[in-house]
Amino acid sequence: MKKRTIHCNEIRTEHIDQVVTLNGWVHSRRDLGGVLFIDVRDREGRTQTVFDPSDVPSDVFDQAASLHSESVVAVTGKVRRRPEGTDNSKIPTGEVEIMVKELEVLNAADVLPFPVDDPETASKVNEELRLKYRYLDLRRPEMMHHLRLRSKVATATRVFMEEEGFLEVETPTLFKSTPEGAREFLVPSRVHHSQCYALPQSPQQFKQILMVSGVEKYFQLARCYRDEDLRADRQPEFTQVDIEMSFIDREDIYRLIEGLMGHVWRSALGLTIPENFRRITFEEAMNTYGIDKPDTRFGLEIHDFCDAFAKSNFKVFSGTLEKGGVIKALNAKGLADVTQGQMEALTQLAISQGAKGLAYIKVEGGEWKSPIVKFFSEEEKQALQQTLAIEDGDLILFAADAWLAACEVLGRIRLQCAELLQQRGRLSLDPDRFDFLWVTDFPLLSFDKEMNRWYSSHHPFTAPVEEDVALLESDPKAVRGQHYDLVVNGVELGGGSIRIHQPAVQRTIFEKVLQIPEDLIQARFGYMLDAFRFGCPPHGGIALGFDRLIAMLCHTLSIRDVIAFPKTAKGTCLMTESPGSVDARQMRDLHIQWRHRPKAEAKDETPSGSTP
Ligand code: AMO
Ligand code: AMP
Repeated sequence: MKKRTIHCNEIRTEHIDQVVTLNGWVHSRRDLGGVLFIDVRDREGRTQTVFDPSDVPSDVFDQAASLHSESVVAVTGKVRRRPEGTDNSKIPTGEVEIMVKELEVLNAADVLPFPVDDPETASKVNEELRLKYRYLDLRRPEMMHHLRLRSKVATATRVFMEEEGFLEVETPTLFKSTPEGAREFLVPSRVHHSQCYALPQSPQQFKQILMVSGVEKYFQLARCYRDEDLRADRQPEFTQVDIEMSFIDREDIYRLIEGLMGHVWRSALGLTIPENFRRITFEEAMNTYGIDKPDTRFGLEIHDFCDAFAKSNFKVFSGTLEKGGVIKALNAKGLADVTQGQMEALTQLAISQGAKGLAYIKVEGGEWKSPIVKFFSEEEKQALQQTLAIEDGDLILFAADAWLAACEVLGRIRLQCAELLQQRGRLSLDPDRFDFLWVTDFPLLSFDKEMNRWYSSHHPFTAPVEEDVALLESDPKAVRGQHYDLVVNGVELGGGSIRIHQPAVQRTIFEKVLQIPEDLIQARFGYMLDAFRFGCPPHGGIALGFDRLIAMLCHTLSIRDVIAFPKTAKGTCLMTESPGSVDARQMRDLHIQWRHRPKAEAKDETPSGSTP
């Protein structure tokens, strides 16, 4: 093979008259009056090459003429200035072209299942086909850009962490099953009959043990595995920037991550972000935005009207207040022109979130149009008017329910209203705006009604806020965790906490609060409780979803777009066709016998819970 002397994005007018060799793919081909123009592309860009029948041996010309797109070639020829009027200002090599003398076909490509040369058509190809032929999809410049940015950010992260004194330590991916988390992937052991490894949901326990070892500052670009329902921002295997530190408090984590994000945004996008991020408690986030990962790039804030409607004549409101619930409302500014269908869809959305309805007021032509306004007193209207700054054209939406339910319903409605406003061109979000936010003071525990037990909101190693420790057994609901989430533009980029480092407190959580049976505690967490008895420093950490981080920097919503070989929503790899069946011998070696379990036994037995 003739090796390249220059890459396809490098040639300029100063190379004129030089003989060069390019290696690359046949990007596009045009036949103009017998002269053949082939753009040769490599990772860096492309260059136009010219096969002129009067200048090139006929066998070379014929070979070029029969080439399919995406064949791999080595072409050699002299660089020349393009004839006047034929420059292509869209590409950096657009002033020059190569008069080919030699062509070596390194791999003649078949006709492709979909085109990769035209960004317009390529991005419209259905995703299943793109995933089946992922290697072709990755040839598209957009996808190549994602891979490059990912690599760049990984390096920038490592450089920053190294400078901050962190050690990168790898931890096992053959781990053991731990309760209290997401569903796990299991790997049967050949040597130990009926025993399994589990793939780690995160290196949580190892990084805490590393603190006991005295590592003090640990980080890792860690692979994590969770068998959960997949969405655009969730994959069964994903990467975290995983971090743990000793002798620190929450402020140290905030400072470190604010620095890291600043460094990453500068390296990847050349953008400067605020030095310190806004902080908001979980309660405030729920009250104002109805979600624990608020998108603060737009208002549409939720307001409380419990006091204003304390004496309401509207049964839905008074009944809710009597039961200890709340009344909340938001002003979807300028959305009074929702269509009947859209209003119905909003109501259905509220109902799908558990609401009993979605009371509304449309403000049009100075009139409040609503089936419920007739129940409102002048003072109640005044209160709405003042708090929501109501103007003509507004749409007011209400939720009356238990506190969390009312917040969550309006939180969902708020996002949908923002979507409708964007569709109408009344709300536009600057793609270079990034609202960084720390969400703090989460409840340590949540109650699972179905299982009738408490479970950790984050994971069982999160330390309670010190002044709440006394309430652990008496009033678990009131205990706040020293847990924080990093949220950007409504995306949860990361989460972490200060950990429990006293074995007695950790035991209370396992035993008394989560009510894990003693033998299970010993089997699953015994080694950790042991480690905590032999000199465990106070410690804490965080993990950032690396795929979500890259997706944000690439301005894409799906993390599949920034993972070289992602899985579909059903957890399959369409290219390699995994998961696949294994042969009988492999199964025998693993002592696995397929048998059909009775339905009742086979039903999902995993407790719902948090994911460490
Ligand atoms: P957590 O479970 O919150 O915390 O995960 C941290 C971050 O990882 C990302 N993430 C995911 N990304 C893609 N696909 C998934 N299925 C997925 N699940 C989570 C999110 C999330 O914020 N060990 C703790 C961290 C700690 O306490 O230090 C943990 O894993 O961006
Ligand atoms: P009703 O009195 O049930 O006909 O309800 C009147 C209006 O209030 C309708 O628009 C319902 O969708 C709405 N509504 C009913 N229950 C609730 C609730 N809990 N929160 C908000 N709106 C509600």
